[in-house]
Amino acid sequence: MKSRSIDETARNAFMTAFGARASVEARAPGRVELLGNHTDYNGGLVLAAAIDRYTVVAGRATSGRVATVRSVQFNQEDVFTLDKIEPGEPSSWGRYMRGVAWAVQERFGPLCTGFEVVISGNVPLGAGLSSSASLQASAALFLLGLGQGGAADLDDAGRMDLAATLRRSENEFVGVNSGLLDQFSVLFGRADHALSLDCRTLEYERLPLGRPSPAIVVCDSKTSRRLADGMYNRRRVECERIVTYFQVRGGKDAVQQLRDVTLDDLESAWNDLDPVGRKRARHVLTENERVRQGADALKAGDLAAFGRLMSASHASSRDDFENSSQGLDALIDAAEAAPGFLGGKLSGAGWAGCTVNLVQTDRADDFAETVRVEHARRTGVTPDVHICQAAEGASSRIIANS
Ligand code: GLA
Repeated sequence: MKSRSIDETARNAFMTAFGARASVEARAPGRVELLGNHTDYNGGLVLAAAIDRYTVVAGRATSGRVATVRSVQFNQEDVFTLDKIEPGEPSSWGRYMRGVAWAVQERFGPLCTGFEVVISGNVPLGAGLSSSASLQASAALFLLGLGQGGAADLDDAGRMDLAATLRRSENEFVGVNSGLLDQFSVLFGRADHALSLDCRTLEYERLPLGRPSPAIVVCDSKTSRRLADGMYNRRRVECERIVTYFQVRGGKDAVQQLRDVTLDDLESAWNDLDPVGRKRARHVLTENERVRQGADALKAGDLAAFGRLMSASHASSRDDFENSSQGLDALIDAAEAAPGFLGGKLSGAGWAGCTVNLVQTDRADDFAETVRVEHARRTGVTPDVHICQAAEGASSRIIANS
């Protein structure tokens, strides 16, 4: 679906559901993680990009304190009061939406009106492309827009504050212990740029991907696994156990997160560490290093080197963090032999969902076709392949006066 038709779909759906025109619309992209897998909650470094697949939230203010939210993709509705917002609702999208309203009120004060909205979009759901952060950011900008009489215009400081607010919503309201990567990426995206973030200092940079900007090709293994289903949180605990080991020796001030452990420390302690945890830690620490090298490669305009780092990242996920899957590995195997391939890895939490590949733009169509055919031949599953570009972050605008 082209981006204009996503907007139209949302507006038309609003008219059908509520018999009126939407007055404010917000959109936020999905994201891919280019390097820095499971580093964010370890105080580490990430390199991501927003992609030109969007969630659109369109709606208007109403009198009273009730929110009515309609999801076009799920064909479901959720109604809740703004006076006491509770997760209650079993559907995932509903919980995320309520969580945004909860967090926006906690951070910026009570919303002064109720609202009715529709949510629509073309970010593949549950595939590792941050459809949930995309929903959060578009919903938050919609709500802030209502509060500011139309469109929310945020500078970077405001965006960072909102990213932290939305992360809090996901952690405390939805109950998923994610880091800042997703919310940061969908809010800070820039066309033709990657985004680097130091999750401890919150220093960030927008790094040009070069000209012509390479295609970001997302291959969906079509095996979806909910982020909240336990594997992710288990990995967090495994990382924390290694932190505890070093805290006992180095003190809690010196070692707060895996970020404070060096690869040398890890190597010296290797034989004393639990065999699972030490591999998890090696993945995280080598990922931090790959992000550093990846940023340098982009600054030097060396996309081939950047691509090699992505492929090394995938191998580290597969072997050390063990968050890949047969489907994801097979997609990477197919990609490696396809035209224009520069590098590829799983994107996001892992275990299922998508791979992200950097591909020479003029070969992206051939690449996509080759991966589709090869993967189907080897596994019997025809993957969805999305040829994307790095895109702008979330925005909102007034579309009609109510
Ligand atoms: C998910 C989480 C992110 C990050 C990645 C793994 O996408 O939401 O915070 O931890 O997994 O890098």
